[in-house]
This record gives sequence, C-alpha cells and structure tokens, in this order.
Amino acid sequence: MSAFGPETVGELRELMGRYPEARSALLPMLHLVQSVEGHVSTEGIELCAELLGLSAAEVSGVATFYTMYKRRPMGTHHVGVCTNTLCAVMGGDAIFERLSDHLNVGHDETTADGQVTLERVECNAACDFAPVMMVNWEFFDRQDPVSAVDLVDRLRDGEQVASPRGAEITSWREAERVLAGFEDGRVDEGPAAGDASLAGLQIANERGWAAPSSAAGSASPDESKTEAAAEADTSRAESETVAEESEADVEGGADD
Ligand code: FES
Repeated sequence: MSAFGPETVGELRELMGRYPEARSALLPMLHLVQSVEGHVSTEGIELCAELLGLSAAEVSGVATFYTMYKRRPMGTHHVGVCTNTLCAVMGGDAIFERLSDHLNVGHDETTADGQVTLERVECNAACDFAPVMMVNWEFFDRQDPVSAVDLVDRLRDGEQVASPRGAEITSWREAERVLAGFEDGRVDEGPAAGDASLAGLQIANERGWAAPSSAAGSASPDESKTEAAAEADTSRAESETVAEESEADVEGGADD
C-alpha cells in the first residue's frame, strides 16, 4: 500500500502549481515527501518523477545532492551539531563526541528508541553564535556538552523544548512540512535575529555609519558590463603579450 494518499498527491500538485515551471517545485515536493515518510523513499522519488515528467534518476540526483534530504528513515527529532571550522574550535567537536557517547550513536545514526537522529552538520551561517546545534532545523546557540546532553534528554522525554530564539520545537516531520511550504501559523515565534547578529548594526548606528549609497560613484549596469568587458580584453591582450614574449625568449634561448 502506498504511503502517499490522494491528499498528499493533491498537495504535491498544489506545490507544482505555485511555480511557472512545475519542475521548480521539486525541492519543496521532496520536503513534503519527507514530512509524510520521514525520509525520501524510492516510492517518493518515483511519485515526484511521475508528477513532474522527469526520470527517477533526475529526481534521485537532486535528492542525493542536498544533505537536507534523507534517504534513510529519521528519528522523531533531527539533532545537528555544527562541526565546521569555527564551531569545531569553539566546542562543536566536543559536543558531538559527548552526544555520540551519550546516545550511543554515530554520525547519521538514530537512537534505539527512534527519538533522535544525530548528524554532524556543516556551517549553519550562525558562526556568531558558535558553537551551534540545530533541532529540526531550529537554532540552539552557544551550546556546550552539558547543555547538549540536557537538550537531547528533554527531547527524548517528550518535554516541550523551545529554541533560544523562541521557536517551540515540534517534530522533524512537522518542520519538513513547513519547509515544503505549508505554514503552521507559527512563523512569528521568536526574534528574527539575535544579539550577536545585530552587534555590528548597533555599532554602526552608534557611530552614524551607513552603507554607501548605490547611486554614488557607481556605474549603471550597462556601463559596468562595458567596463568589465574592456578590462577582460585588456588582461587577455596582456596575457597574450606575455605568452608571445615567453615564446620569443624560448626561441631566442634555443638559438643561443
Ligand atoms: S561554523 Fe558553525 S555555524 Fe558557521
């Protein structure tokens, strides 16, 4: 029996209708597939391919390219620990190791109770809050091994947990449905940006700094294109001259 009933197929078609080219809906469609099945299954790939008139290989190529699409069933919660450079040196590696020991799972593995899938994740563009973790794609800033263990324990106990930025944590599947483009009515939970992200803006405001006006000293797009083309021609000509001179040198050297 198919995991995808008429309601899901209808929602997939709805997503296709949101774009001038239906195939542009593939990414949200795959998120919707994940929200239904907990991963992108072969059946999910084939369904998207059939609806979009693509081959299963084409859809599979997309689903396996982006790390947010999972080919194996996920736990109730996805816990990502950023171990990219800045977070790693700020404690991300230590957090991951501690969680791995505590949960008895490695990268991309799910706990025996099916509650948590642990993953090393790449930079989350939240380096100013390093080291960061994500639960179902919501940020948990400035974590440490102790706070990380407390967090996963609360998730496994079914406690209500909120991101320091305000969002109440639901399940990974529910978050995937939102990513597919079906709002849950909670978009305004928490601030849009935290103190660390706003620090530069605050300093600029205090000192009266502003971004240069786009009009001042800037060329029009057409002028920029012309200038760029002229610059490219000049550097090409220079390269050719250097190459010719080198050739002449070599030939001259051979004559000597
Ligand atoms: S390195 Fe972790 S958020 Fe950028």
